[in-house]
Amino acid sequence: MLRDRSRPLPLGRRRVFRRGTGKGGAAGGGGHRRDGCGRLPRARATGAAVTGALFTPVRVGGVTFANRLVMAPMGTCLDQGGFVTDDTVAYYRRRAEGGVGAITVEGCLVSSGTVGPEPRLSGPEYVPGLRRVVEAVKPHGVTVGVQLMHPGRQVTEGPSVAPSPVPLNSVSPTPHELTVPEIDGIVADYARAARYAADAGFEYVEVHGAHGYLPSNFLSPRHNQRTDDYGGTLGNRARFSLEVARAIIGASGLPLVWRLNGTDTEPGGFDLDSAVAVARMLEDAGAAAISVSSGTWLTLQQTLAPMSVPRGHMRPLARAVKQAVSVPVMAVGRLDDPALAEDVVASGDADLVLLGRGLIAEPDWPNLVRAGRLDEVRPCIACNACVDLVGRGERAQCSVNPEAGRERTWQVKPAAVPRRVMVVGSGPAGMEAARIARVRGHRVSIWERDAALGGKLEVAGSAPSKREVLRYRDFQARRLEQLGVEIHTSAPVSPETVRGQQPDVVVVATGAVPLVPPIPGIDGPSVYDAQRLLLGEIPVAPDSRLVVVGGSATGCETAELMRAKGIEVTLVEMRGSVGRGIEAITRRQLVKQLERDGVALLTKAVVVGIEPGLVRWRPADGGEERALAADVVALAIGWRATGADVTAGLDLGDIEVRVPGDAASPADFVRAVNAGADAGLGI
Ligand SMILES: Cc1cc2nc3c(=O)[nH]c(=O)nc-3n(C[C@H](O)[C@H](O)[C@H](O)COP(=O)(O)O)c2cc1C
Ligand code: SF4
Repeated sequence: MLRDRSRPLPLGRRRVFRRGTGKGGAAGGGGHRRDGCGRLPRARATGAAVTGALFTPVRVGGVTFANRLVMAPMGTCLDQGGFVTDDTVAYYRRRAEGGVGAITVEGCLVSSGTVGPEPRLSGPEYVPGLRRVVEAVKPHGVTVGVQLMHPGRQVTEGPSVAPSPVPLNSVSPTPHELTVPEIDGIVADYARAARYAADAGFEYVEVHGAHGYLPSNFLSPRHNQRTDDYGGTLGNRARFSLEVARAIIGASGLPLVWRLNGTDTEPGGFDLDSAVAVARMLEDAGAAAISVSSGTWLTLQQTLAPMSVPRGHMRPLARAVKQAVSVPVMAVGRLDDPALAEDVVASGDADLVLLGRGLIAEPDWPNLVRAGRLDEVRPCIACNACVDLVGRGERAQCSVNPEAGRERTWQVKPAAVPRRVMVVGSGPAGMEAARIARVRGHRVSIWERDAALGGKLEVAGSAPSKREVLRYRDFQARRLEQLGVEIHTSAPVSPETVRGQQPDVVVVATGAVPLVPPIPGIDGPSVYDAQRLLLGEIPVAPDSRLVVVGGSATGCETAELMRAKGIEVTLVEMRGSVGRGIEAITRRQLVKQLERDGVALLTKAVVVGIEPGLVRWRPADGGEERALAADVVALAIGWRATGADVTAGLDLGDIEVRVPGDAASPADFVRAVNAGADAGLGI
């Protein structure tokens, strides 16, 4: 069993300097990792090595995968105009270096009429670029395949096509209903793309037959309303998939992996019984493996489970398919817990485990797990920032791994001259700045006003749905300690502290403080910063009525935590919906949770005054003033950067100053961590 990392490290094991301890120990050498100036340290056994089932070879079609770990296909938006770039090549090379058995390169568009941000395999001109990916990956002993996709009606631009003219949702265009000759044309597109894949040197192809894309859309009894040979019975709805499968195998000779939904998780949608039957049909058609996923664009919280969803939620789907077919089966869904991944294979629920976001966060996951260095695996917190960025057509980045998406240029070079660096504030930006600066050889201290490292991570991790954030906080704290960063907690920094430290560089990573707008009564006795409720600093009696003002992430998290304690909660937001700034999938899940828990959501409501026992508000679009009963009021209205004030207050003179993250401009974790990394790289 892995140690529960959501609990803070025992203080005795930390290299901690409390207030008044002066400079503390010198920054000693730490066990540098790959980004520690290019050296991998000798293996340290910090956990049980997972070597049983996970690291045994397996045959898929005629090809041998070196182990049971497959990098899941994941769009990166690193391509340009459909052509892979040097950034794409570097991104996949980095994952191959980490010891994964196979890599399925992200979904590539097969039809020239389709528009999207994905790379393309719709013409021979795309082959040389993808061949470079293959050549970068294969020398590392990794089997490499590519996913072929046709988005159907799940597009944000360009033509939308589907088996039936059923729009995705009320704001989507009605898709064009494919004619039989058009269907034949798309089948031929898949076959041609598979030939290009073989030309590029790929060793297998995967069809994206899941997640509501075209083949999956055909399978759905809810969305496929055709009355011809491609609609109606399951056999008819599966016809398109089977034609594609046979055409690809015939044209390319490559082993075919079919990505299939175990369920669409939509009412009246494609379900597990149907999935099991279709898996058998695909096996009969010659598929070499079935990769089982679930969800569509309408149920993305299933496909891309946010951190509130328990790990392994799709495992039963893989198990059911595995029991029905004799070809290898792949499982997916937050399986980046080493013990869980091992168990999925060892138990026979699946033959292979897909690692998606876990490999964005930690490319070395396979090698570290194999060596038993579990403490060094940087945890993906399933925040979905990567998905959010890619969904908006921006390059993939990660909230915990600043190298992600910039592997080509990422270099953590030793500093020419080691300098004394003082990092003030230990939120996401401060900890990452300290880590990178220390890895580069600077002498680094980090100063936290509160009793534990973490800043905003500590606050966010208090909410039941965001506990995972604390795993990352603990990981970072452990890294800083191992690297020999001086850690000062309960240590506010004054001009005297800075003078005593004599730093060459001060990193002001003090984050942001809550905005307090001029609302009458806002300074009343029962009005608090919501963060204080999250941290448990303000006891709220269970029979209280709490009004949370502001439906931002902090507001929603406060409402969630307080409601879980039985408190009656109303969340008031001036905009039309709550969860502003939260990634869309996480937001959908959180809002559902709040509604299920009975949190009253009052939107388009402007708070105009606070008095003892009540909050006065007015509809945002005008109308009469009304009142809500409130024993306690929590404010989560917005943030103000602290960097400029803190810098001025510390009287830093001509000391070099860096102000990363929220201290410069309040944003989200992914920007804070990346800004912290940039600060550390720039010193
Ligand atoms: C940024 C991103 C892009 C993705 N793009 C694809 C894709 O192109 N094709 C696909 O089948 N799945 C795609 N997925 C889904 C993943 O393959 C995988 O099923 C999902 O991330 C769940 O696995 P995980 O919990 O290990 O991350 C994507 C996921 C992410 C995070
Ligand atoms: S951005 Fe978040 S979900 Fe994506 S890999 Fe990084 S930690 Fe995981």
